[in-house]
Amino acid sequence: MFSNKNKQETNKVAGQGTTLPIEIIQKGMVSLIDVIAPSSIEVDFNYIRVGERFYKTFFIVGYPRYVSPNWLSPVIDFGHSLNISMFIYPTSSSDVLSDLRRKTAEMEATISSQIDQGLVVDAKVQAALEDAQGLTEELAKGIERFFQMSLYITLYSESLAELEQASKRLESTLSSLLILPKLSTLQMEEGFKSTIPFGTDDLFITRNMDTTSLASTFPFTSATLTQDKGIVYGLNQQNGSLIVFDRFSLENANEVVFGKSGSGKSFLIKLEAMRQFMFGTEIIIIDPEGEYEAITKTLGGEYVSFTTSSPIKINPFDLSGMYVEGENELGLKILSLHGLLKIVLGELDATHDAILDRALVETYRQKGITTDPATQKKQPPLMEDLYKVLLGMEDPSANELALRLEKFIKGSLSGLFNQQSNFDITNPFTAFSVKALEDQLRPIAMHIILDFVWTKVRKNLKKRLLILDEAWCLMRYEDSASFVYGIAKRARKYYLALTTATQDVQDFLSTDYGKAILSNSSIQILLKQSPTEIDTVSQIFYLSQGEKELLLSVGVGEGLFFAGQSHVVVKIVAAPYEKELATSNPQEVKEMQERNAARQPTIAPQDLSTSRISPAETPSQPVPFPPQQLPTPTIESQNVITQPTTTLTNQGSPSTFNKTEPEIF
Ligand SMILES: Nc1ncnc2c1ncn2[C@@H]1O[C@H](COP(=O)(O)OP(=O)(O)O)[C@@H](O)[C@H]1O
Ligand SMILES: [Mg+2]
Repeated sequence: MFSNKNKQETNKVAGQGTTLPIEIIQKGMVSLIDVIAPSSIEVDFNYIRVGERFYKTFFIVGYPRYVSPNWLSPVIDFGHSLNISMFIYPTSSSDVLSDLRRKTAEMEATISSQIDQGLVVDAKVQAALEDAQGLTEELAKGIERFFQMSLYITLYSESLAELEQASKRLESTLSSLLILPKLSTLQMEEGFKSTIPFGTDDLFITRNMDTTSLASTFPFTSATLTQDKGIVYGLNQQNGSLIVFDRFSLENANEVVFGKSGSGKSFLIKLEAMRQFMFGTEIIIIDPEGEYEAITKTLGGEYVSFTTSSPIKINPFDLSGMYVEGENELGLKILSLHGLLKIVLGELDATHDAILDRALVETYRQKGITTDPATQKKQPPLMEDLYKVLLGMEDPSANELALRLEKFIKGSLSGLFNQQSNFDITNPFTAFSVKALEDQLRPIAMHIILDFVWTKVRKNLKKRLLILDEAWCLMRYEDSASFVYGIAKRARKYYLALTTATQDVQDFLSTDYGKAILSNSSIQILLKQSPTEIDTVSQIFYLSQGEKELLLSVGVGEGLFFAGQSHVVVKIVAAPYEKELATSNPQEVKEMQERNAARQPTIAPQDLSTSRISPAETPSQPVPFPPQQLPTPTIESQNVITQPTTTLTNQGSPSTFNKTEPEIF
């Protein structure tokens, strides 16, 4: 039927010789414009209706005399949908100058006639005259240039009543900024066209502006830090948007958190750990304060508490047994042991340094381990072997070092670190607590654990998050700081994200290593600061006076979130079930324990961990949700779980490594 009709038409038209058959066919077809065009448009005095939606355009006639940068942000962040368009027209300075001269003369005449009549000089005219004189001077010198600007705002809504209400709110927001809007009555169509992205100014209502004022009008400074995927960090206080970030998509996945004691650092880190864990990231925590126990056990993790009598042993001499092109595994290990021993032994002079280096190489050699990677899978030596090598060196300085080392072999640390490692990180959520150790042993233990974790982490690739809370304990020692820096620098290669939190910013940043860690961290979070630290912080982060004051006065869990070039004011928010786990408030912890105790009969307490710690260490509290309800890995995490099969040797060729990556890097 369709083809018959066409045939007839074609014949007829061909006879007339005016219209081509193809054009007739096109006339009868639906075009793209037909599909997208609204069914009707109604232009009224005060609004325009396009399809089902109502639009209202305002143009700006009056601007404030003084403006600060980003003064337009309340309009940009206005709580209703709107289109804003700005047209900027450069103007020739000479035209403006002659105009200004005329205006100046007029105003001077007004003032002098007022004086002549014995009247009080109009302050407005006086101010305008001063402005004009100032501007003339700057234009003449070429400091400023001149522009004309038009600014239009179109509000839109599904109903007229809602549009009216939004218009009132917009008008009051604008008046609070001393901006004078006017409705483009009878020109709604022009207004509408001027605010859709056609780049045509159909209203052409302009206002003169100099360069500085124009620059401060630039509207795109309301930062949003929202990525398509990642985890929620908190709320952007400036515009209410969510701060969503995937650390692993940044140039490095490291993060630093600075804030005074009680500002919410550990809380934030716990939330992040929980949320990352849900997406299949392995979590490893070094916990000097013993505050990660509840969360670790609830999530089915392994909580390794170090005490001098603990059954867990770590041998600082462990080697990763992995060969990485261009890296001398033994050399790096010796360097790290050297650093550790400096903390243990105290200050070393150049002779001691040299002896220690020689002794370390010799200790490994005696076990048949050399720089040849093939030898590095052999059983590593113990601290005791180093002690013996030092004693056997028959050098008074070596013997002195051996004596200083004795407490490692025979003293309080011997139980922990002078035996072959009997522990592996098998649980995807593992926390190491060193709270039970004496104060001076804590940094040593932290260093050893960190080294142990680092050795393990390099063995197989997985998406991992390593958390170092209260990092200042370690950062006080230059050698530990250098070690942490080494991890921060190389972490990305091993799919590792390092989080360091500290309350003591000065200690942290006193070494160049601390500063280097900071610059190797894509995410930096500043929570409430103490007055003694604020100057250091503001110098490092180039904070403005306002930001400084903000950081001194913010509440718990609030601060500044820096990622890349942008930073925003953040508020860390937790769901009630997250808060229950993350809080360190004794009252809340007690309430949670009581609630869990009451729930005990209904949920069979299960040992979720694959812990090899004594039964006394296994979770005594039941978990708030049954283990089978533990977050199942998402699609993303499935990709990640395939990672372990990527062996380190693959890593030598970045292309194979990239292919296995789930949209990351
Ligand atoms: N974003 C937050 N929302 C609610 N409570 C918080 C928040 N951040 C911290 N807290 C509470 O403040 C207290 C101190 O937090 P914590 O993380 O231990 O501080 P820090 O580690 O900086 O010393 C805790 O009791 C915690 O529950
Ligand atoms: Mg803390």
